[in-house]
Amino acid sequence: MANDNWELKGYLKERTQLIESALDRYLPSATTLPTTLHGAMRYSVFAGGKRIRPILMLAACEAVGGEIKNVLPAACAIEMIHSYSLIHDDLPAMDDDDLRRGNPTNHKVYGEATAILAGDGLLTEAFILLSNPAIRGTATVEQYCEVIHLLAKGAGSRGMVGGQVVDMEAEEKPVDLPTLEYIHTHKTGALILAAIEVGALLGGATTEQRLALCRFGEAAGLAFQVVDDILDIVADEDQLGKDIGSDQQRGKATYPALLGLSGARERADELHTRALDSLSKLGDAARPLREIASYIVNRSH
Ligand code: IPE
Ligand code: IPE
Ligand code: MG
Ligand code: MG
Ligand code: MG
Repeated sequence: MANDNWELKGYLKERTQLIESALDRYLPSATTLPTTLHGAMRYSVFAGGKRIRPILMLAACEAVGGEIKNVLPAACAIEMIHSYSLIHDDLPAMDDDDLRRGNPTNHKVYGEATAILAGDGLLTEAFILLSNPAIRGTATVEQYCEVIHLLAKGAGSRGMVGGQVVDMEAEEKPVDLPTLEYIHTHKTGALILAAIEVGALLGGATTEQRLALCRFGEAAGLAFQVVDDILDIVADEDQLGKDIGSDQQRGKATYPALLGLSGARERADELHTRALDSLSKLGDAARPLREIASYIVNRSH
C-alpha cells in the first residue's frame, strides 16, 4: 500500500468484482426453485450498488494486517442484508420509491408480495451463509458466533430495523437533533459499524485497534447517511440511480431539513475529520479506509 500509484478508483473496482463474484457463488442460482423468488433476490443484489459495506469490512480487516479471504463470506452476508433492507425500504408501505440502483425497484418488477419475500429470503440467506461451518476458514467457532451476533444486532430492532421504524414515525413531524441522530445512527450507521467491527475481529485486531476502528465506523456510518440526505437534494437522478427529492416529498427527518444544506455539509465534514482522527494510530495499512472515508463524504452517488 505504500506506493504512490495506489488509487481509490482501481481499488474499489477490484474489490467490487471480488465481492460480486463471491455473491454470485453464494446466492442460490436463478434456476433454483422457486425460480421467481431467487430471480427477485438476484435482481436486487446484482442491480449495481457501491458495495460500500463489504468493501469497508475488507478494508478494516486489511487495516489490522488480516487476510481478506477470511472476511469475504461475511462481506457477502452484509451485502445480502443491505440489499434486503433496500427492497423493503422502497416498498409502498415505506418510502414508496420506483427507482433503485438505476433500475425499477423490486416491487415494481415482481410485485409487493414477492418483493417482501425476496427481502426475507436475502436476510435469511445471509445467516445461512454465516452459520455454514465450511466458510469459517481459520476463525474459531466462538469468533464466528460473535460475527453472527454483531451482524444480527446491527440489522435488528436495536440497529437498522429500529432506525427504520423511527424514520417512519418521524415523517411529517418536527424532530430534534438527537432524534435525527438516533434515526441515522441506527437505520444506516449500525450496519456500517457492524461491517467495520466484523472486519476488525476477523482481521485479528487488538482490543485497542478494534476500539479505534469502531470509533471510525460510528463517524463514517453517520457521515454516510448525512451525505445520502444531501444527495437526495443535490444529485443527478441518473447518476444516483434512485428517485431524487423523495425525502422532501415524504416529509422525512433529514440533516438538510433540520440544519440546511450548508449545515449538513459542515456536519459531514466534522464527521469526516472525526473518522480520520480515530485512525491516527493505525499505519499505512489503513490507507484504503482513510480514502474510503473521503469518498463517503465527497461522493456524487
Ligand atoms: C442506500 O445505501 C441506503 C442507505 C442506507 C443510505 P447505499 O448508498 O450504500 O446504496 P447502494 O448499495 O450503493 O445501492
Ligand atoms: C435507508 O435510508 C436506510 C435503509 C435502507 C436501511 P433511506 O431511505 O434514506 O435510503 P435511500 O435514500 O432510499 O437509499
Ligand atoms: Mg427510508
Ligand atoms: Mg428510502
Ligand atoms: Mg436517502
